[in-house]
Amino acid sequence: FDNLMEFLFDVNLVLPDSITIVSSSDVADWSNLHLPNNARQNQKYEHLSTIIDEMGIASAKAQKLKVPITSFLKFKCSNHRLYLMKDCNSVAGLLKVGVKQLFLCDEKETLHECHPLCVLDFYIHESKQRNGNGKKLFQKMLENENVSVHQLAIDRPSQKMLAFLSKHFLLKNPINQINKFVVFKDFFLNLAVTK
Ligand code: ACO
Repeated sequence: FDNLMEFLFDVNLVLPDSITIVSSSDVADWSNLHLPNNARQNQKYEHLSTIIDEMGIASAKAQKLKVPITSFLKFKCSNHRLYLMKDCNSVAGLLKVGVKQLFLCDEKETLHECHPLCVLDFYIHESKQRNGNGKKLFQKMLENENVSVHQLAIDRPSQKMLAFLSKHFLLKNPINQINKFVVFKDFFLNLAVTK
């Protein structure tokens, strides 16, 4: 399934919606349901884990990372949410977000302690990039998380990601941080200064 993110099972059983939202707590609940007499649920759980692992590996490859930042095991123990996009029986994309405590510098070099929602991983399958799929997935996340794009911190954005944010959300002049996160000017509106 290198050409298309297709699996040997029906992804529609695991991903019911065109964009399915999975939070780590859902997965933890499923593990508690991991009972011998619950074969269907167990299979769904195994298939979800395969999808997340394979998408994590593909995303890492696309970003030239040595180790995937997204795997089922890491996700299960996190406070993250995953947005998984499907297209017929293939998986088209993944977007992972979560709140983190960060120390971020504004343009005047003032340090702020904050707990923003962070974009941690974002990937659209190569065969489906530059078709508006990334924007659809991102918009769905913004709506569901009830945040504006300028309130986000972006973890190690790629050049494609910076181009994406500039094109769709007019976010320009990224403020690079030592911790490799990037925020944009309006992020610091309404944030309290830490001493
Ligand atoms: N080169 C430069 N810009 C690109 C490229 C590219 N190859 N692909 C997408 N973009 C940017 C451009 O601004 C493009 O607009 P244009 O075609 O007019 O130049 C715009 O994205 C297209 O928007 P969409 O079609 O909505 O986005 P897409 O479906 O391509 O998804 C994404 C964007 C997720 C960045 C995708 O290109 C991808 O998976 N890239 C590889 C992995 C990656 O870099 N992920 C982001 C890592 S950063 C992070 O996860 C926090």
